[in-house]
Amino acid sequence: MSVLVTGGAGYIGSHTCVSLLNRGMDVIILDDFSNSNQKVVQRIEHMTKKEVKYYSIDLKDKDAVHSVFADNEIEAVIHFAGYKAVGESVVNPLSYYDNNLISTIYLLQVMKQFNVKKLVFSSSATVYGRPKQVPIAENAHLSATNPYGRTKLIIEDMLRDIYASDNDWAITCLRYFNPIGAHPSGNLGEDPRGIPNNLMPYITQVAIGKRPVLQIFGDGFSTKDGTGVRDYIHVMDLAEGHICALEQLKKVTGFNFYNLGTGKGYSVLEIVQTFERVNHVNIPYIITDARMGDIPISYADPTAAATGLGWKAQRGLEEMCIDAWRWQKNNPTGYSDKKNPHLMQSGDFSFS
Ligand code: WQD
Repeated sequence: MSVLVTGGAGYIGSHTCVSLLNRGMDVIILDDFSNSNQKVVQRIEHMTKKEVKYYSIDLKDKDAVHSVFADNEIEAVIHFAGYKAVGESVVNPLSYYDNNLISTIYLLQVMKQFNVKKLVFSSSATVYGRPKQVPIAENAHLSATNPYGRTKLIIEDMLRDIYASDNDWAITCLRYFNPIGAHPSGNLGEDPRGIPNNLMPYITQVAIGKRPVLQIFGDGFSTKDGTGVRDYIHVMDLAEGHICALEQLKKVTGFNFYNLGTGKGYSVLEIVQTFERVNHVNIPYIITDARMGDIPISYADPTAAATGLGWKAQRGLEEMCIDAWRWQKNNPTGYSDKKNPHLMQSGDFSFS
């Protein structure tokens, strides 16, 4: 029996596939590669010494999705695939509703047709909008502040309704806080297209020489040093959270949702200082205006996942920074082959 991983060639998806394979599960990747690289599949196979079947299709191609289910014995689905850039969603909301919602509806319809009713859904802490208090627990008020977050909220509501209509479904929504870091081998990592929206890939691109300076978006927040505070979680901890969710879905039906965070908040300056210290690099930065829509502080109350899933983040901030930098050093241009003579040359790149 296989686990179908939509968006399995993406940042969190690829790390989760490695964890699934290392736990002896069979994995099928379904990805349109619009924001990922087919090289990732080869890396996953090399790292796990396992063959990975993958399909390069758009989830909105319902017939193609139908064929994947017809041609494979699928036990469960982990649904990562979706557009995820907050700023882009504000500029082009229709493309987010079209892509994230229609593809999910088609996936769910095909799952129902083939009686596949175990689903882990990649949700996000953005469903909490502007939290009224921290730490943020799962019963906190839900309110999206952008179209991307609204697609996550709408999908969670769809899944809740599906379970209410048919209690044979086993559904878990995982609300990620801020995933950073990379697999310790340096073979997988975050490789955003264009200018990184998120903090850590921007930092690693400054460190590798691809970008001259980090812009810190505001230092006037009511936080320890005025810069934004977030709950950063190692992507390998996040991957393991999906394994725990899947194991639970094998035993019980239901509709559940859990925060995946460490419960600790770090400021932007703390991230920069830690990254510089543990990696012996310098990250030049300038303080600019706050980014529109940014909230001052967000970090999780992680107790529900500990009691409900038996999952707790294990890796600390130093490990996140060391692993993120190893990935970028080994892959100065990410997964793409184009060389950039201005970048630091990576050491002898070796698969480990
Ligand atoms: C973190 C902090 C910025 C970049 C986003 C998405 C959310 C989720 C995680 C998918 C903030 C500051 C950032 C930079 C900076 N993704 N920053 N300079 O905004 O908490 O959440 O990613 O689910 O949906 O909204 O993460 O990494 O963009 O920002 O100063 O160049 O770093 O202001 O305080 P965010 P982020």
